[in-house]
Amino acid sequence: MDHFHLKDGALWCEDVPLERIAEAVGTPVYVYSTATLERHAAVFRKGLAPVGDVHFAFAVKANPNLAVLRVLAKAGYGADIVSGGELARALAAGMAPADIVFSGVGKTRAELVAALDAGIGQFNIELEEEGRVLAALAAERGQVAQAVLRVNPDVDAGTHAKISTGKAENKFGVGVDQAPAIFARLAGLPGLNLRGVAIHIGSQLQTLEPLEAAYARIGALVDELRGAGHAITHVDLGGGLGVPYRAGDSYPSPAALGEMMARVTRDWNVTFMVEPGRVIAGNAGVLLTRVIWVKPGVLYPHVIVDAAMNDLARPALYDAWHDFAAVRPTGVNETVNIAGPVCESGDTFATARRIDRVASGDLAVFRTAGAYGATMASTYNSRALVPEVLVSGDRFAVVADRIDPATILAAERVPEWL
Ligand code: LLP
Repeated sequence: MDHFHLKDGALWCEDVPLERIAEAVGTPVYVYSTATLERHAAVFRKGLAPVGDVHFAFAVKANPNLAVLRVLAKAGYGADIVSGGELARALAAGMAPADIVFSGVGKTRAELVAALDAGIGQFNIELEEEGRVLAALAAERGQVAQAVLRVNPDVDAGTHAKISTGKAENKFGVGVDQAPAIFARLAGLPGLNLRGVAIHIGSQLQTLEPLEAAYARIGALVDELRGAGHAITHVDLGGGLGVPYRAGDSYPSPAALGEMMARVTRDWNVTFMVEPGRVIAGNAGVLLTRVIWVKPGVLYPHVIVDAAMNDLARPALYDAWHDFAAVRPTGVNETVNIAGPVCESGDTFATARRIDRVASGDLAVFRTAGAYGATMASTYNSRALVPEVLVSGDRFAVVADRIDPATILAAERVPEWL
């Protein structure tokens, strides 16, 4: 459930008409609903209540906006980060260092040092050498880094190949077969408290079966590691729960996830960490856009909107579907293609899509754009970097400015030899 709804014939976010935001800020613009973020954070937490001792770390990559992170910090969420930049954001948003977990297959030494200096709660180690480097860096500083070993369970997550991470051939984690030996070699190192294991098998998962298979493998590994004398106190179960991108699609609920997790992990007796991203932020945001032209086409008219693949990359990258809705629905249906102004055919949001008829100048939204939307934006075609607005009740604020092409141009220079 989200807080985008029709009122007086137009689409509102909470108690603010989207038309008012478009007028004040211009388009394209991302609009996030605080009430929806809070609701999703609470529903997810409640769903996992049967699991026991669970720490919630929002996957910052899904939506790193400072104000969004502040909302989630206030809801008691920590952060799952994958770079020094995300570390800085999580700290700036007020997340406690102890509630920050550092994932990622390519942490640089400088990033490891920054995270040690910040005193973060957990490092998710991706390879043996990283564990050795982290241990040495921590020992030099008189610290003990709290860490878990990320394991690749070799499970097909059944999602898009580009967002699948748990197959043996993927770059993430250490093979489940090699994990006991690597764990044993790292466990004794000074500077490191290797206290458990982590997995994350992919994103936008549509069923719980692959997660259950992965958890079962990790459960067997925990038993094996304990049998070898290691104290396993923490398990990080990652993120990945999918969300409905099409109205009417049904997806596993946080409660169903929690029931399955509680069942599979019943005897583990550990502290859990989870790293949800999309399920918290996805349906809490829309990309608000204005129709520039409706251009006649051979098969269907092309609705050309002022948002493009640089603002919302998911359709171009993953053939992703985002529902498109007119802000003032006409009630007259039409089949169209929807595209942005960027000069390649990949800049297409939808083909042969049945929508409410729109005309040039009309406002519309791409839904479910709160996760992996603005964060993946670029300035391709020398377009502005898209702004972001946060709504709370009848208030709204610009929480990320539109960075215009002139500002971007001002950061470039022609060398004196030219
Ligand atoms: N933990 C780790 C280690 C991850 O790599 C990810 C996402 C998450 C947690 C959060 O997963 P979520 O709960 O959001 O599924 N740009 C792609 C998604 C990439 C996901 C990368 N990793 C998209 O737009 O679909």
